[in-house]
Amino acid sequence: MKNTVTLTDNRNGKTYEFDILNGTMGPDVIDISTFFSQTGMFTFDRGYTSTAMCRSSITYIDGVKGELMHRGYDIAYLAKNKSFLDVAYLLLNKELPNEDEYKNFKQELKKRSYIHEGMMKIFDAFPSKAHPMAVLQASVSALSAFYSDHLNMDNPDEYREMAMRIIAKIPTIAAFSYRFSRGYPIIYPNLDRGFTENFLYMLRSYPYEHVDLKPIEVKALDTVFMLHADHEQNASTTTVRAVGSTHAHPYACIAAGIGALWGWAHGGANEGVIRQLEEIGTADNVDKYIARAKDKNDSFRLMGFGHRVYKNFDPRAKVLKKMCDELISQIGINTELLKIARKIEQIALTDEYFISRNLYPNVDFYSGIILKALGIPNEMFAVIFVIGRTPGWISQWIELKEQDSIKIVRPRQLYVGEKNRTPHE
Ligand code: ACO
Repeated sequence: MKNTVTLTDNRNGKTYEFDILNGTMGPDVIDISTFFSQTGMFTFDRGYTSTAMCRSSITYIDGVKGELMHRGYDIAYLAKNKSFLDVAYLLLNKELPNEDEYKNFKQELKKRSYIHEGMMKIFDAFPSKAHPMAVLQASVSALSAFYSDHLNMDNPDEYREMAMRIIAKIPTIAAFSYRFSRGYPIIYPNLDRGFTENFLYMLRSYPYEHVDLKPIEVKALDTVFMLHADHEQNASTTTVRAVGSTHAHPYACIAAGIGALWGWAHGGANEGVIRQLEEIGTADNVDKYIARAKDKNDSFRLMGFGHRVYKNFDPRAKVLKKMCDELISQIGINTELLKIARKIEQIALTDEYFISRNLYPNVDFYSGIILKALGIPNEMFAVIFVIGRTPGWISQWIELKEQDSIKIVRPRQLYVGEKNRTPHE
């Protein structure tokens, strides 16, 4: 027997039936695609908190248990045993790479890591204090003008080529936008270095000075990239899919995703964590700020705590907490900022207010501290998130593309405005 759910309209006793769909994991889903045609009504779901907008086989999250899987592999396993590029390959190709596939993937990305020299004029045109996210978003959009030879998006070879280009070029654009914003000389990609090491090299190096990159620093950044690689239908991924549903070119979709990621409620949160720690100023002030976070009459929120989906310890935060401790002990820093962070973490993990509301430190809390410890400036934090998230966005775009038919994203609304007004003469 088909599983269905029946809805009764109490106003007139009419009943309507909807199919129940089952995934391989996670809650069942009521198929309401015929809701309007059956009932003449819309459903109301502000922020889509109860709405599945697509079928996907890329990432699975159980927010109650605190689980995250990519293509069926648990994030704790991937973080312990694999690199960011392994996960990027997995998202794109559905399987983890073997040794040869990994080498080839890495090589193909390296080959594409340079950007068209004409793009330098774009960086040049921005004011020196431009936020790197603004420059990054504009430059990714510009890629479609500079790389217009792969625009047939009905050809899998062409869109897979484009996917490789975007993943390879975004770190270069990100590093260049930072160097330009500071007036530092541009450092071109170094093909002898791995993906993550090369990005850190382009950020930190000088033409006249040897740059010392510690393996633990590269590992910490690689882990940050990996833990941001995909997170199913979050705001930026939904944006990429929504723009993709109009058949826009993927460069335009990714540029839109970058815009969505910028806000403090999404990718801007780890920058917010550090700014808040700086505002707190000293460990002695922590109690005062904790009291503010708990005060119902104060809108102040502790940045880096709580999550819309995870009502348990965010599995990414668990991995990053360990990484954070390892990095800090190996590079030996003990700043006031770190003391404040440690004190907040300890209070939040034991205080009744935070425990009863499931407000655990989230991935942004630890990634903020790690990026600060790596000497990465605050305004680059969201940019780092973009580099990590790009393989996820591209994989979601490919999945959309390879579905039977694309349905344009076009939600409805509950209109609450004026009606039938007569214009005043
Ligand atoms: N500090 C203090 N109290 C908080 C916090 C916080 N960071 N987050 C939630 N609360 C409280 C709320 O005041 C509310 O209390 P009440 O029940 O007494 O009214 C309760 O916890 C539930 O809060 P909601 O806003 O309903 O939780 P929601 O799931 O909608 O919000 C969010 C999640 C937006 C992440 C929120 O926890 C927050 O603002 N956190 C700080 C910003 C942040 O760290 N964002 C990064 C998210 S992770 C990511 O994007 C990768």
